[in-house]
Amino acid sequence: MTSANNAPIGILDSGMGGISIWAEIVRTLPQEEVVYWADTAHCPYGGRTQAEITKLVTVGVKTLLEAHAKIIVIACNTATTAAIATLRAQWPEVPFIGLEPAIKPAARATRTGVVGVLGTAYTVQSEMFRHTTEQYAQGVRVIATAGNGLVEQVENDREEQPETENLLKQYIEPMLAAGADQLVLACTHFPLLVPAIRRIIGNRPMQIINPAPAIARHTQEVLAERGMLTARETQGSSRFLSSGTEHDSRRLAEKAAHYIATLTA
Ligand code: DGL
Repeated sequence: MTSANNAPIGILDSGMGGISIWAEIVRTLPQEEVVYWADTAHCPYGGRTQAEITKLVTVGVKTLLEAHAKIIVIACNTATTAAIATLRAQWPEVPFIGLEPAIKPAARATRTGVVGVLGTAYTVQSEMFRHTTEQYAQGVRVIATAGNGLVEQVENDREEQPETENLLKQYIEPMLAAGADQLVLACTHFPLLVPAIRRIIGNRPMQIINPAPAIARHTQEVLAERGMLTARETQGSSRFLSSGTEHDSRRLAEKAAHYIATLTA
């Protein structure tokens, strides 16, 4: 056991979406320190090119490494799709955890043979997405929709506004009409919209697949395998950094505290 074990877990997102991953990591590994970096100044990533996203995420990774992160969770489907191969090549000694749309569990669970996926335009149009679908969803109809506008709603604390619910309806109703019984949340911002999504689904048989708990377990496994879990027995703390203003960092911390309280309520 070295002092490196007490170094923080680094989490990165374009903005506030990674809070959905942060919350499960904190619940799974309460003794760990966490440092979260949000690229608030450049959010959203979903409409950008691969080169732009890779450049931005590289800045985030450098910031987290300067904060001594022992592992980096790319808590963003878009950033993972665009940049994780480059990051792994650039920092082969750093363990990276990425997020890919949970097509496999959805394809296994569906009874109707129809699965809905809600992601950013970048993610659902990517080669990685096409590849994952071909590999894991043979014989399953996958309805992939770009949830344009939703990331901005979350960033601006508008999760409960009628226009957010209208956007969600526009994206989810066609999936329900086509018989989808699984909804894969393929953008980390979208778990923050679960209360509104549940209102739309109502009593129709659609299961929401939020990958966050599985990502937290995977982070724990990777740290355990490498002998990198902290030995600390007291509660760890979380630090929130942003490429935006001090105010943005404070908003992140507040939103994170609010979100985790809704999970434990
Ligand atoms: N939270 C992100 C994702 O998982 C990125 C959203 C965005 O910046 O467009 O895809």
